[in-house]
Amino acid sequence: MTDPIKLINVSHYYSQGLPVQVAAVKNINLTIKAGEAVGIIGHTGSGKSTLISHFNGLLKPSEGTVLVDGEDIHKDKETLRRSRFKIGLCFQYPESQLFEETVAKDIAFGPGNMGLSDSEIALRVERAAEFVGLKRELLSKSPFDLSGGEKRRAAIAGVMAMEPEVLVLDEPAAGLDPRGKNEILRMIMNYREQTGSTIVFVSHSMEDIAATAERIIVMNHGEIALEGTVDEVFSHGESLRTMGLNVPEITRIFMMLRQRGIDVPSNIYSVEEGARILRGLAEGRRG
Ligand SMILES: Nc1ncnc2c1ncn2[C@@H]1O[C@H](COP(=O)(O)OP(=O)(O)OP(=O)(O)O)[C@@H](O)[C@H]1O
Ligand SMILES: [Mg+2]
Repeated sequence: MTDPIKLINVSHYYSQGLPVQVAAVKNINLTIKAGEAVGIIGHTGSGKSTLISHFNGLLKPSEGTVLVDGEDIHKDKETLRRSRFKIGLCFQYPESQLFEETVAKDIAFGPGNMGLSDSEIALRVERAAEFVGLKRELLSKSPFDLSGGEKRRAAIAGVMAMEPEVLVLDEPAAGLDPRGKNEILRMIMNYREQTGSTIVFVSHSMEDIAATAERIIVMNHGEIALEGTVDEVFSHGESLRTMGLNVPEITRIFMMLRQRGIDVPSNIYSVEEGARILRGLAEGRRG
């Protein structure tokens, strides 16, 4: 099977040729495989948004090639158009782009460009709203009457309704309170489970990435600095720190316990899981 996304030696320069030229991503080689959940992390300005904007041809590489399902995405207009439907890109703060009269129309906007029948579009809007947990009665409201979290979910539903092969999200949980954040992450995982779609998402939070991704890509100054499973990447604690990133606090505590000879797993990424294990240990000692 061909991989849904493959980048070969991709570089992107903003203001190319000008004195202010910025090399935002440099010589990236990257494959996203079907069904994967990939998390992209890195310091501010490390090139995450620039990188993912190449996945659906929103940006054209200054150098290199982007293949979607094995085809050069910039081969011609038609290939680019088709790729845009295959790779659904959801920007950071996507709710700022809601503009239709009703939530339903907003969610329908993307699929509306795909030449689908009205009944198919209506079906997709319903399905997508369900995925993001937007109640039916909200669909006829103006998007501007929704809460912050609901707006975010409506915007994400608009991309889901295109039923892309790959759903790419730039900081889907940014700016939400902890509850809203957890809801969004749970909703994305649930979407993946039910549709089998490939997911790529950008996050600033190691905890969120650990909870959601199978593979992590760490960007640093426009380059892929580290790449691997959550365990592999977190085992490079020192390098991560030099890149302004940290393994989750709870993971560090468990690593420390292990160093002191206490028999606990090294791959603990959430406080809940850590607490469960520590409780088990305490009960074992008492019993
Ligand atoms: N439109 C633009 N014109 C010029 N430079 C840009 C533009 N967009 C981004 N840059 C620069 O390119 C580099 C990479 O930016 P990018 O937005 O891809 O990083 P990021 O990892 O997504 O950052 P953040 O975590 O803040 O979202 C930065 O140095 C940024 O200042
Ligand atoms: Mg960004």
